[in-house]
Amino acid sequence: MKRTNVISAAILMATSAMASAALADELNVVCSAEQDWCDLMVAAFEAENPDTDVLMVRKSTGETLAQVRAEAGNPKIDVWWGGTGDPHLIAAEEGLTQPSGVSTDELLGWARNMSDISEARTVGIYAGALGIAYNSEILDEKGIAPPACWADLADPRFAGEIQVANPNSSGTAYTELATFVQLFGEDEAFTRLAAVGANVNSYTKSGSAPSKAAARGETGVSIGFMHDMVKLAASGFPLEIVAPCEGTGYEVGAVSIIEGARNFEGAQAWVEFALRADVQSRAPEVQSFQVPSNSNAEVAPESPDLASIKLIDYDFATYGSSETRARLLARWDEEVGDPNPQE
Ligand code: G6P
Repeated sequence: MKRTNVISAAILMATSAMASAALADELNVVCSAEQDWCDLMVAAFEAENPDTDVLMVRKSTGETLAQVRAEAGNPKIDVWWGGTGDPHLIAAEEGLTQPSGVSTDELLGWARNMSDISEARTVGIYAGALGIAYNSEILDEKGIAPPACWADLADPRFAGEIQVANPNSSGTAYTELATFVQLFGEDEAFTRLAAVGANVNSYTKSGSAPSKAAARGETGVSIGFMHDMVKLAASGFPLEIVAPCEGTGYEVGAVSIIEGARNFEGAQAWVEFALRADVQSRAPEVQSFQVPSNSNAEVAPESPDLASIKLIDYDFATYGSSETRARLLARWDEEVGDPNPQE
């Protein structure tokens, strides 16, 4: 081999060794929880793992499922942390995620249930109940009596006053859709969702956006997770939180490692980290008031007390299956629909 060729071969080998080292030290995370909690997790993980560079983007749960499906076989994401559990279960069923091998011994039953349903491809990290919020100043000003039940949201007094997310993109809104079906039966659920829909001023992409809009007085009423509403009320916004009288559904937020992840070891370290009691106990630092899944984690006093809310026995195996989700979303598009879908 000529001398120049030997040198270029050596340079090539060195460059590719550097590239694969960089790859191993880079961890691609999609986070479907609130942005500030995503940021806290990245900073805390990098502090413990100084050689790892975490590249994180925040995306709603349904949007992430769409990305994971589109990238099947050549994923850009290593680990998907946060967001409602149903789309994580669907990704598991479709073989798009893989077992992490991380112990679930310290986790509460509802978190391990996700692992049982998915043959260990996903696991619960937090839980939170669905509810209604209203801006008391706006409703007072307009002389509108506050809602107490899901049924109230179909009343004409709320015309143009309700905001909720689109269940195609948002796990929160899919939880609402599945909750209505479990509470009222499928046909009646769609009749009720269409009646509520007549009062909806906008369907947002992300699940927490409607409560943020209600907090700022841009809409009178929102549907979303109670812990997101508590966060806003704790920040001083005039937001009142309602546990609907008919009962309500809940989410089990989840974490999954993507099948074919380029950095499996890093993803595994992330899952182990995310399930730790001390790490979960830090969520209230950014006013994330979900109930943590590790039985040794501290539950913030602000966390909605799930035992005191009338919760349905949410059927994660059914509503976290591809067939059910596809059917319900197609029916939602047809019978409820978003007249102005967001890009
Ligand atoms: C918020 C909540 C999370 C939930 C997530 C779902 O961030 O705090 O508990 O999992 O919304 O987001 P999405 O945009 O998919 O409804």
